[in-house]
Amino acid sequence: MEKILDLISNEVMRAFKANGYNEKYGKVTLSNRPDLCEYQCNGAMAAAKEYKCAPFMISDKIAGSLKDKEMFESVESVKPGFLNLKLNLEYLVNYLRGMEKDKERLGCNKCENPKTIMIDYGGPNVAKPLHVGHLRSAIIGESVKRIGKFMGHNMIGDVHLGDWGLQMGLIITELKERMPELVYFDESYNGEYPKEPPFTISELEEIYPTASGKSKEDVTYKEAAMQATYELQHGRKGYQALLEHILNVSVNDLKRNYENLKVSFELWKGESDAQPYIPDMVQKMKEDGFAYISEGALVVDVKEDTDTKEIPPCMILKSDGASLYNTTDLATIVWRMRDYNPDEIIYVVDKRQELYFTQVFRCARKTGLVKPETELKFLGFGTMNGKDGKPFKTREGGVMRLEYLVTSINEEMYKKITDNHTVEEAEGQKTAKLVALSAIKYGDLSNQASKDYIFDTERFTSFEGNTGPYILYTIVRIKSILKKYQAEKTLPQQAEILPAHSNSEKALMLEISKFNAIMENAFEESAPHKVCAYIYDLANAFNHFYHETKIMAEADEMVQAGYIKLLELTKKVLEICIEVLGFEAPERM
Ligand code: ARG
Repeated sequence: MEKILDLISNEVMRAFKANGYNEKYGKVTLSNRPDLCEYQCNGAMAAAKEYKCAPFMISDKIAGSLKDKEMFESVESVKPGFLNLKLNLEYLVNYLRGMEKDKERLGCNKCENPKTIMIDYGGPNVAKPLHVGHLRSAIIGESVKRIGKFMGHNMIGDVHLGDWGLQMGLIITELKERMPELVYFDESYNGEYPKEPPFTISELEEIYPTASGKSKEDVTYKEAAMQATYELQHGRKGYQALLEHILNVSVNDLKRNYENLKVSFELWKGESDAQPYIPDMVQKMKEDGFAYISEGALVVDVKEDTDTKEIPPCMILKSDGASLYNTTDLATIVWRMRDYNPDEIIYVVDKRQELYFTQVFRCARKTGLVKPETELKFLGFGTMNGKDGKPFKTREGGVMRLEYLVTSINEEMYKKITDNHTVEEAEGQKTAKLVALSAIKYGDLSNQASKDYIFDTERFTSFEGNTGPYILYTIVRIKSILKKYQAEKTLPQQAEILPAHSNSEKALMLEISKFNAIMENAFEESAPHKVCAYIYDLANAFNHFYHETKIMAEADEMVQAGYIKLLELTKKVLEICIEVLGFEAPERM
């Protein structure tokens, strides 16, 4: 369906044209004075300059032309030259009925030209537990991906595992110290390696920090780890078999963690998958004259004349020939283009890596790794802080494990839910999980991604205010009214949403009618926070309507049935929105 704001704009633009003015002045916006009107057009003010007359002379004429249009309940020309518009009730209800008919998409058209968009998010590191720093990437990336899918694009999420580098050598070195008898360390061994990994995930998670700690204090240990990394990267069989085990154990654990967050990836590629593409890529960069040696290292210049701050060259190989984080990201672009030919690649990464990605993107463009029309987009997010305004930590000051954070919010929620009323243990736990996830995700997504925010457990888990649980509470409230109604009667066949009977009902309808515009805009700007802001307004409009309207006690059957239809539509809009945000509502709470 066409967006309601466009339909209104078109009508007003036609009126400008019919009166001999340029139609561009007829653009309509949402009212910033909802007490006075629903929509407004300020074009007469600008038009007055071009046509050299008083603005209200124009707005008066336009109001005169629009007065009898069925779209409007009222059109007022207000000095000095504003047009204040209110929508006709029939017109509005027809728009909602149109939404209702489109059961799956509620009037939100799919995009006309679907794009292939790869989205690089998550970015966990093998053998290191997920910590809260990885939470934002996962939550934001998942939502941006879901919004894109809803709009009809081919969205491909890639976890881009950190599985290359010293951490692998460290683990191997520590394993060798503890279990030198393992076949993986025997260079003369030619047989098959065992299928079972020689460690569990909890051992692995203990091995890595131990090794990392040792390497900081013991130079020989560190050298051994670097040597092991080198040998691993140059094909030592036993080490590669160990790498397989480390990857499997780690990835299984990561998948379980992401599943708890309702986050999933189309691709589980890692930094290591990019390595085979490096030699040819580097070779070509040299041949084409882009890469040159500077202070021993191989670099590509990426500064541009219009830069206001210094953008250092992009380093491709270190002086010892070793590749870097850069090299891996560039080579990753190579296989992404080769295998998926995306129109766009979005990176959901900590905004502190912005300069780094500027270098990578420019280098990729300059050296022709991407087509000129391929968009490379950095979606940088801010830091999640604790109440003290510093990066979120455990009470002891350590890095907070993601799993621990999720569990503690689950427990908090379980307490709240069982305090409210008695539920069976299993149902209570299930509900608590759903509500806790909404608290975490909405708490994060309702902020503009690029901003830092404070993770305030108390506020995020509250059932009131701008929170996930409040949104779920609203949906659950609607569900319970619908259930009550269904228990008493069946919806008459001819039931339909009726023109609003009250201001609060109309306000709710106006909110609902914005759905398609919000989704489109949230996609265009990769901005889940716009969906959050919308459902908060929608939930408020609904609750206001609910408090002012006796739905179950309504005597007129058709009026009551109309309310029920309106509730159903409200619920569907809310449900689609929370689905793209990445959480869901329980039956009761
Ligand atoms: N593994 C990295 C980290 O933990 C994030 C990876 C971001 N993505 C990328 N393509 N570089 O910081």
